[in-house]
Amino acid sequence: MWLNRAQTAFLGASLSAATLAFAASAGAEQTPPGVANPALWPTAKSQGLIDSKTEARVTALLRRMSIEEKVGQMIQADTASVTPEDLRKYPLGSILAGGSSPPMGAPDRSPAGPWIETARAFNAVAMERRPGHVPIPIMFGIDAVHGNNNVVGATLFPHNSALGAAHDPDLIRRIGEATARETAAAGIDWAFAPTLAVPRNDRWGRTYEGYSEDPELVRAYAAKMIEGLQGAPGKDTLQQGHVSASAKHFLGDGGTTNGIDQGNTEIPESELIAIHSAGYPPAINAGTRTIMASFNSWQGVKMHGNKSLLTDVLKGRMGFDGFIVGDWNGHGQVPGCTTTDCPVAFNAGLDMAMAPDSWKGLFENTVKQVREGVIPMARVDDAVRRILRVKFKAGLFDPARPFESRIDVIGSPAHRALAREAVRKSLVLLKNNGALPVKSSAHILVAGNAADNISQQSGGWTLSWQGDGNTNADFPNAQSIYAGIAEAMKAGGGSATLSVDGSFTEKPDLAIVVFGEQPYAEGLGDLRTLEFEAGDKKSLALLKKLKSAGIPVVSVFLSGRPMWVNPELNQSDAFVAAWLPGSEGGGIADVLIGDAQGRPGKDFTGRLSFSWPKTAAQFTLNKGQPGYDPLFALGYGLGYAAPGAVGRLSEVAGIDATATNKSRYFTDGRIQAPFALTLGAGVTRRPVDSPSRQEGAIQLGWTAGQAAKASIEGDKVDLRFETNAEMMLQMTYRVDTPATGRVNLSMGGGTVDATDLFQRSAGWRTVRIPLKCFADKGADMAGLYPLWTLSATDSLTVSFADIGLATQAPGGICPPTP
Ligand code: BGC
Ligand code: BGC
Repeated sequence: MWLNRAQTAFLGASLSAATLAFAASAGAEQTPPGVANPALWPTAKSQGLIDSKTEARVTALLRRMSIEEKVGQMIQADTASVTPEDLRKYPLGSILAGGSSPPMGAPDRSPAGPWIETARAFNAVAMERRPGHVPIPIMFGIDAVHGNNNVVGATLFPHNSALGAAHDPDLIRRIGEATARETAAAGIDWAFAPTLAVPRNDRWGRTYEGYSEDPELVRAYAAKMIEGLQGAPGKDTLQQGHVSASAKHFLGDGGTTNGIDQGNTEIPESELIAIHSAGYPPAINAGTRTIMASFNSWQGVKMHGNKSLLTDVLKGRMGFDGFIVGDWNGHGQVPGCTTTDCPVAFNAGLDMAMAPDSWKGLFENTVKQVREGVIPMARVDDAVRRILRVKFKAGLFDPARPFESRIDVIGSPAHRALAREAVRKSLVLLKNNGALPVKSSAHILVAGNAADNISQQSGGWTLSWQGDGNTNADFPNAQSIYAGIAEAMKAGGGSATLSVDGSFTEKPDLAIVVFGEQPYAEGLGDLRTLEFEAGDKKSLALLKKLKSAGIPVVSVFLSGRPMWVNPELNQSDAFVAAWLPGSEGGGIADVLIGDAQGRPGKDFTGRLSFSWPKTAAQFTLNKGQPGYDPLFALGYGLGYAAPGAVGRLSEVAGIDATATNKSRYFTDGRIQAPFALTLGAGVTRRPVDSPSRQEGAIQLGWTAGQAAKASIEGDKVDLRFETNAEMMLQMTYRVDTPATGRVNLSMGGGTVDATDLFQRSAGWRTVRIPLKCFADKGADMAGLYPLWTLSATDSLTVSFADIGLATQAPGGICPPTP
């Protein structure tokens, strides 16, 4: 018996493990791909969620609720697309604020005040007494993934890949507790954390959301974070400053082939269990109230539609009594579904769909499907029972919210001290030939673009989804790495001078160079190789410049994951992996800067929780694998009390990384690898100055009366993720002589009429066109070729300073169809 997915879902309960076992023993085909056998899985038991008093209250509510009210509980909308008034007509059960979604009527980057107002406004409507309405509090969720990171002024803890290096479960519990308090203080009762992914391919853009490649460490941390966020199971609630947790993303998010975000995890069930499920039994035992379904597939079956894993394994075998929330329109990716229509996901066991902008359509269709019996009433009652149970256990029916106005806890000295401790404990010393510790009586230079850059040290999921667009002014309760060093040097009678580009007038005794990855989140951080700054080794050039001036160099490397940095290691007298430390840059000085005589203060205690690669091609370098041959093995870490020598390393990357670039096409005066510029007959090119740099732009000229094209092309480029993530083509250009004919702009086979954009000369301007516009015009976003084409029918001279992709930038309209 071989069932297709739709049948699997609709057969519902009848497709039990027993049926499959029977089918197998009857000599039929084996278990189809993507179907789990619950008997193989570990067991667990939800603590503190079920008690008879609560269940009776839930039963009483369920009896009074209409179908609309029940379905409403099962749908979550995003603040960017819903208003409190909407809840009068659509009785939704939950609101979220996505990574770049603002509080009501305020900017996305807001302090606690507007967030409190927003949560109150939605709750006020939900709790209104009006005829035919059962008042039920909403749950308000947010990605508090490294502190309550959407709120201006919040303490920002190091990202999870850093915390793994600390190997300190109790630290994790304390961070969970502090995060809960800062979340509750902003009026929010639910954190979409912790991520229990076990990242096995460091190309994955979410590697930093995971604690370790080692399932044992994820197992040890999982319960601690739940305990910290939620408090004692069955006892602590919002009233004690605790919020609901969401263990995510169930299941196999860290195991996708090629490390592609939202990809396919093509591994056997035994490996899914042994590696990727490690954190879930402890999280369930610790009473996690919610678990988030993952975007990824397992053996080709999307998790949002996988009944055997969501229902039979998670709720059955693992005894999870809380509710399963979906990921951002994740239900819409199940075959046969759209974001507004997906009974299959609910039937598979999804209890609450995250339907940020699709909630209205989903609500209407789901109500209809329940009436028609496509979704059985028993399934709806089970989902709503779970959701209401969680709301009771979280303390949401109790109107007292003592933590709500405790904004004194946001960025409090105690929480910042805790974050600083976490920074200290997560630093891993990869190399030290004696340059560390730094004598605090010395005069040093602090260089590198990340030295005084709180945004870069905090990474993605910081004030905005991608962590982009932030400046130091957005972080009132934070300290840059440079500021922390300067403070420590001053205390020892020495000095630190900030010089981003490494220039100096008086030769310093030593230089600390802070550099690393730019912020990113989710699939936008996916890489093709692990080479750091492939193609443009800016940081290496800076290290070399300082070294050749005879200055000892200490590198502080900021990254979400291990990367191939052999050339940078070779140019460094000491090298510290500092991960993404967050708001407390001072934690770095605590360990790097010694006393005035150069005796160490605090020692390095961080040890790698991810293996460090020897070549840029070691993506799936994980301890225990056959032929494991890392540069620095899992558990590695030097210290003042544990010195060790690192010799000269090979500078052969082992793989061509020019193929890593999918988003920068023309910048810094040149076409970026792996792309090339192709000019049709009659089109001329010459370098010109851009607003920021000499010869930083390229001028293209079309001859009158001669239709021709200019194209940027390389291999086919897959921009599906970028299109779904609402990214835009961004061009900074100046029209030098306006177009006299028609101008078309294409990406792949999708063409828009861009005449209007090239008809007036008005100095430098930046234009953004959503990738969706090209998709709508028929571009194959899975394989764009040529990537970018500008064609003009008559004369035009235009200078481009920048062509590439922009994330969630303002503006962006679709030009007309040609
Ligand atoms: C992410 C989740 C996150 C959710 C809400 C999704 O895109 O995968 O981790 O919790 O958005 O922002
Ligand atoms: C949201 C994120 C979400 C992402 C998914 C963004 O617009 O802000 O929270 O994870 O979309 O694509």
